[in-house]
Amino acid sequence: MKTVLITGANKSIGFETAKQMIEAGYYVYLGSRDLEKGNEAVEKLKAEGLTNVEVIVIDISSDESIKAARAEIGTKINSLDVLINNAGISGGFPQNALGMTTQTAREGSPPIFSER
Ligand SMILES: NC(=O)c1ccc[n+]([C@@H]2O[C@H](COP(=O)([O-])OP(=O)(O)OC[C@H]3O[C@@H](n4cnc5c(N)ncnc54)[C@H](OP(=O)(O)O)[C@@H]3O)[C@@H](O)[C@H]2O)c1
Repeated sequence: MKTVLITGANKSIGFETAKQMIEAGYYVYLGSRDLEKGNEAVEKLKAEGLTNVEVIVIDISSDESIKAARAEIGTKINSLDVLINNAGISGGFPQNALGMTTQTAREGSPPIFSER
């Protein structure tokens, strides 16, 4: 069975992607930076009969967390077939791809629309 890791998959687009990848026949490692939220998402999928899924705790802003997730997956499988880097923070717009710093990419910039 092909495997996929989806970051930020405990909700929204990542969660829906997880659902569709399981339906398409993949075993999904559902990335979540919070174990409890990840477990809740896994339980929701299982309640729908989508059982080829388990949570992996991964916070993409932490090198340590990424390494730990890599190590955890390494104890389960030899290689991952697909990685979906879904978790991200878009930050404000417009943005210049060439001027983007790693710091901004990791942490985002202030929202473009402030609350009034
Ligand atoms: N929605 C759109 O219209 C749209 C348009 C273009 C691009 N995108 C991109 O598509 C992706 C998903 O968008 P979305 O609308 O589904 O976003 P969302 O509703 O904000 O969900 C983001 C997901 O990423 C997780 N996440 C946030 N920071 C993280 C971190 N440091 N490490 C690990 N996980 C983290 C969140 O976890 P928590 O639940 O713990 O917060 C959540 O599971 C993003 O990269 C976004 O930039 C979205």
